[in-house]
Amino acid sequence: MRRSWPWGLSGPAVALIFLVVVGSVGRSSACDGITDARLFLVPAADHPANSTRPIFDAPESYPRYVGSARGANNYQAVDGQQDSTPRGYIPQVPHTYALMEATYGVMNEHGVGIAESTCSCIDWSKIPSAAHLVGRAKPLMAIDTLSRIGLERATTARETVQIMGALAEAHGFYGPDSFEGTGETLLVEDGNESFVFHILGDPTGSSAVWVAQRVPDGHVAVCANLYIVREVDLNDPSQFLYSQSMVSLAQEHGLWTPGTPFDFAGIYSDGEYAHKYYSGRRMWGAYHLLAPSLNLNASYDNLLHDRPYPFSVRPDRLLNVSDFFRVHRYSYEDTPYSLRQGIAAGAFGTPDRYSGGAGEAEVQGNWERPISLFRTTYSHVIQSHRDLPAAVRGTLFFGPHAAHGTCYLPLFSGQTEMAEAYRQARAGKLNRTSAFWAFRYVENLANLRFDAMIQDINAQQRTYEAEGVALRAQLVAAAQAGHVDVANLTTASLALTQRVVAKWWELADDLMVKYADGWVTVNLGPVDAAAPPGYPAWWLKQVGYPEGPPPVDAVHDNLDLGQK
Ligand SMILES: *[C@@H]1O[C@H](CO)[C@@H](O)[C@H](O)[C@H]1NC(C)=O
Ligand SMILES: *[C@@H]1O[C@H](CO)[C@@H](O)[C@H](O)[C@H]1NC(C)=O
Ligand SMILES: *[C@@H]1O[C@H](CO)[C@@H](O)[C@H](O)[C@H]1NC(C)=O
Ligand SMILES: *[C@@H]1O[C@H](CO)[C@@H](O)[C@H](O)[C@H]1NC(C)=O
Ligand SMILES: *[C@@H]1O[C@H](CO)[C@@H](O)[C@H](O)[C@H]1NC(C)=O
Ligand SMILES: *[C@@H]1O[C@H](CO)[C@@H](O)[C@H](O)[C@H]1NC(C)=O
Repeated sequence: MRRSWPWGLSGPAVALIFLVVVGSVGRSSACDGITDARLFLVPAADHPANSTRPIFDAPESYPRYVGSARGANNYQAVDGQQDSTPRGYIPQVPHTYALMEATYGVMNEHGVGIAESTCSCIDWSKIPSAAHLVGRAKPLMAIDTLSRIGLERATTARETVQIMGALAEAHGFYGPDSFEGTGETLLVEDGNESFVFHILGDPTGSSAVWVAQRVPDGHVAVCANLYIVREVDLNDPSQFLYSQSMVSLAQEHGLWTPGTPFDFAGIYSDGEYAHKYYSGRRMWGAYHLLAPSLNLNASYDNLLHDRPYPFSVRPDRLLNVSDFFRVHRYSYEDTPYSLRQGIAAGAFGTPDRYSGGAGEAEVQGNWERPISLFRTTYSHVIQSHRDLPAAVRGTLFFGPHAAHGTCYLPLFSGQTEMAEAYRQARAGKLNRTSAFWAFRYVENLANLRFDAMIQDINAQQRTYEAEGVALRAQLVAAAQAGHVDVANLTTASLALTQRVVAKWWELADDLMVKYADGWVTVNLGPVDAAAPPGYPAWWLKQVGYPEGPPPVDAVHDNLDLGQK
């Protein structure tokens, strides 16, 4: 079984940008694995006539795939792993494009980028006229597979959507079978157009229902585990693409009456899952940062029915990648919903809230769902610009592990090699080559004294993320002047990544020295200086410090009294 709580955010401005977080968590049942944050570069390939493309299962846990079908050096078996067995085959195309893939396809050599968000959807087995059809066929396509094939075969976002939709209709679609429902969303963009693509399986398992809405130019759309496409204009293919089944199945099973507006989410969504505000608070949070002038209401009665947030908004100003990093890292600081405040955040204001266990079995409740989540596998921001040479058309700012602890560094659409730091990401085995592990290690360490330590981490993030942005600017300028050197941009990206991973391990040691044992210790050359900042007063009061053992003098007085 897999559990994931991803969200996505799409935003074209002058340069088109978007991002996604994939978070997953292992449960205590034995069959669950945890997080596979590996990012691979699958090379372009030519294929003989009439060859087939194998389709594999799509677990998100490690290892999500084992074998050589995704590039000879990727996903090699280690530690006695067995090669994955194909679930089925589809006809291959003569040529597939190079792409970067993690759990989902991320970006291809043409600068087409994808972000993912799992969504609830209707359960066909609960619809009387459809229930008897459920389970007739074994669907072939999961969202992981579709996103990869889309990027293998397409040069634009529109084409990616059409290819994925057609494959799902032809071979059947299945979603992640978990509490969160079985619908899916991909945000697809190419630096020219952006689409929000929603999909779910049909009742039989042999086909699919999907819609894609174009994000208006200059707008940003936020998808956080809830379908956001509402009224579909059935006659405007420039703005809406969809499967014929979207209309016919809705009509056939009494979900829609012809002549009324076709409200995709209203018809096919099952609303927020997990708990109220699970999706809506993140939508509000992102819009609160990007378009504060809209002053959107953070509360509502029912997210699906009240529709408090639009499909997309125009941000208050032109956005850049740092704005999106900030959204990814948001725990609603400075709002009543901040995860950094109150007794639940502990003495040092951590935004991390662990889940599961015997306690939760005994006490019913929920935590506010922040955008930045401790168990995130990876998140990213993609910046594409259609007019640039293909090699620098798309820049992927990739961030393994939780957004608040990661460092988003650039990879380029023309890159010919993947950093070893991204090829290694196994939650069950520490590897100091791994960027995932460097960021995971430091973020966990930061829970010793989060409020202070996050400042040291933020300083490093600012430094190296600025370097990454500057590197892109330099390579883009060179490309615009006619100098495109893929070996050079590959080397530059790899070198920056390697340097930052080394820096993060150094940071782990520095943080340990500085914050060990509740001190703040500074090495001053010949001498050390250490201050004990202790706990904040509000926390001491709340945890019963004043009611602790009384002072020594009082004890004396009591003893004296007793002796007299
Ligand atoms: C591909 O399949 C078609 C139809 O079955 C056949 O006519 C053709 O010879 C095949 N081509 C090759 C190279 O095998
Ligand atoms: C860019 O998008 C427009 C629609 O907004 C479309 O007409 C055009 O063909 C696209 N250009 C490319 C290069 O994909
Ligand atoms: C925000 O929404 C809540 C819940 O629907 C409502 O009670 C409240 O009046 C709204 N606030 C504003 C300022 O509209
Ligand atoms: C993005 O914009 C903000 C606000 O204008 C600015 O503070 C920040 O430095 C910008 N970042 C980059 C990478 O340009
Ligand atoms: C760590 O990663 C490196 C580089 O990919 C690899 O050579 C090594 O075997 C890995 N170590 C472990 C313990 O997995
Ligand atoms: C290679 O990239 C660096 C930036 O990392 C740049 O300074 C240098 O001029 C580039 N060299 C070539 C040959 O493009």
